[in-house]
Amino acid sequence: MIDRRTILKGITAIPILAVLGGVGSALLSFLKPNLKPLSIPTAEIPQNKDLVAASLDEFPKEWDVKEFVFTQITPEYSSKGTQQTDIPGYILRVPKVEVLDPTKIGNIGGDLREGYGEADHKGEKYSMVIVSRICAHLGCIFQYHTGDEVCTGFNYCGETGPKGHPLFSCPCHLSVYNPLEVQDVAGIMRVGHVVSGPAPRTPFPFRFVLESGNVIIKGYG
Ligand code: FES
Repeated sequence: MIDRRTILKGITAIPILAVLGGVGSALLSFLKPNLKPLSIPTAEIPQNKDLVAASLDEFPKEWDVKEFVFTQITPEYSSKGTQQTDIPGYILRVPKVEVLDPTKIGNIGGDLREGYGEADHKGEKYSMVIVSRICAHLGCIFQYHTGDEVCTGFNYCGETGPKGHPLFSCPCHLSVYNPLEVQDVAGIMRVGHVVSGPAPRTPFPFRFVLESGNVIIKGYG
């Protein structure tokens, strides 16, 4: 038979057990969080729209070039929810050179290319360099030079200079990029080797496909 003292002890222990249970539960949930793993809300997935930036017919000769502007749409923690940035770029038809091997340069899977791609169009081979015009040094917009100005104004008269072929050159601190050379950027070979000036790497490439004779820009950066 349970005596009175045992019953009183049991009643006194109830609040202590309740407190211990609460603390224990908090500790257990701390050790094993019940939140779902972090996932990217749909709203944060890049929402870029494809841009048909050119037809290959606009590049009848090697070294023909076209400027374009791609609108990059990225998530932003504001009432608008997104931010739009206009990125200027160049589409440049270049001669086929050995170092621009499409299996190694710009090959990011399937038909998608990054910075460099090739296509057959109306019986001709097109080798296309497509990069941002934002200088990799401090962000000025660089230009495409076909004449002597790179040698006279940009301190670069190398063998692949203006006497050889056109180059990209930045007016701010005289960086010069060679669209026919590649450079290792964090383990990836990218087109637009820096041949002069302070730029630390090649320009950022655009992602694109060459489809049905068109240049379709898919993304950037
Ligand atoms: S911003 Fe182009 S060289 Fe400095």
